[in-house]
Amino acid sequence: MNIGIDKLSFYVPNLYVDMTDLAHARETDPDKFHIGIGQDKMAVSPVTQDIVTLGANAAAKILSDTDKKEIDMVIVGTESSTDYSKASAVSIHRLLGIQPFARSFEVKEACYGATAALQMAKDYISEHPTRKVLVIASDLSRYGLHSGGEPTQGAGAIAILVTSDPRILTLENDSVFLTEDIYDFWRPSYSDFPIVDGPLSNETYIQSFGKVWTRHKEVTGLALPDYDALCFHIPYTKMGKKALLSVLPETDETTQERLMKRYEESITYSRNVGNLYTGSLFLGLISLLEVSQELEVGSTIGLFSYGSGAVSEFFSARLVKGFKEQLLANEHQALLNNRKKLAIPEYEEVFSQTLPKHGEAAEFSDQTRFSIEKVENDIRYYREN
Ligand code: CAA
Repeated sequence: MNIGIDKLSFYVPNLYVDMTDLAHARETDPDKFHIGIGQDKMAVSPVTQDIVTLGANAAAKILSDTDKKEIDMVIVGTESSTDYSKASAVSIHRLLGIQPFARSFEVKEACYGATAALQMAKDYISEHPTRKVLVIASDLSRYGLHSGGEPTQGAGAIAILVTSDPRILTLENDSVFLTEDIYDFWRPSYSDFPIVDGPLSNETYIQSFGKVWTRHKEVTGLALPDYDALCFHIPYTKMGKKALLSVLPETDETTQERLMKRYEESITYSRNVGNLYTGSLFLGLISLLEVSQELEVGSTIGLFSYGSGAVSEFFSARLVKGFKEQLLANEHQALLNNRKKLAIPEYEEVFSQTLPKHGEAAEFSDQTRFSIEKVENDIRYYREN
């Protein structure tokens, strides 16, 4: 049975910072951000958007009334949870009007969460082929003003509808996964921001890729020429490129050139958004599918997922007939083009705003389809416009 992605979309907040402005404000050479890190714009989330609203805004675009009746599970991959107990998936389930006899829960392992959710969805559909699973990756990537990770921040969500006989791609049964207990990037429960060992995180990312890639080759017999494109988790666009460059010497020049071109297409959106944590790999996939003119039915795409801490996975997918008609390229490009640019003092103000805590109340206005309406008695109330 073919199981995979039937519908796919993303949502990012409507505010961004230009990386040249950020570089000037931080007395840094703009080339470091644009070339050294590989980022041009960075999405900034207003206080009225959280992982629930970002996720609901991403999913609302793709779900039909029939989908809502046929979805059995809503799984949110995130490392930006707002509650230790209640899962964001429960609120998203209600906001989207999904039939009540469904499972809704969150999955956590840094930026790997949504991949775990996707594979769980695939397993569920193999037992229940007439049903559907909604996977959401939703995160606010925040390192703090003036921090080392500041140029690699971002925010947004991905929505993935997993079904049998999918209309975008099928997921192959070839996952290779790896767990290594390290501290490269983590966020203790008392901390607003992650603690990062930047060099170790870069090193571990590449080494983990090398390990799952090598084992995947041994297990499947597939090598670089067998792939039309490779997609990577993209904490910043230079990172995936480094991983790709580490294996390119294994192949001929034509394949190298093809994979590099497809990589550039896969980072077009991320360059203008920044890190989505769990969603980054899938923003790369959407960018590849919507920007590239070279992919066709049957094209094979390799995907590398990495979550600090660390869990990684390499798996492959194959494009199916009609995939182009399922994409939302125009809508996604309009979303990116119609955002408001923030001057650095505005960004710093927006970034520093927080929701009330400990029973304090506040009301908000936001024209986005889903947003936070108010906080009262420690409950977030959501508005649908
Ligand atoms: N012109 C062009 N390039 C320049 C430059 C200039 N003027 N100045 C510096 N550069 C280049 C450097 O040579 C370097 O390139 P290489 O990596 O190819 O050597 C690059 O810009 C970055 O320079 P630094 O290493 O000096 O930058 P930094 O000390 O500010 O740290 C960072 C960069 C480690 C990515 C930091 O931003 C960070 O900690 N980010 C968060 C952690 C992260 O994203 N880690 C990735 C792996 S972990 C993961 O993937 C999970 C996740 O999502 C967090």
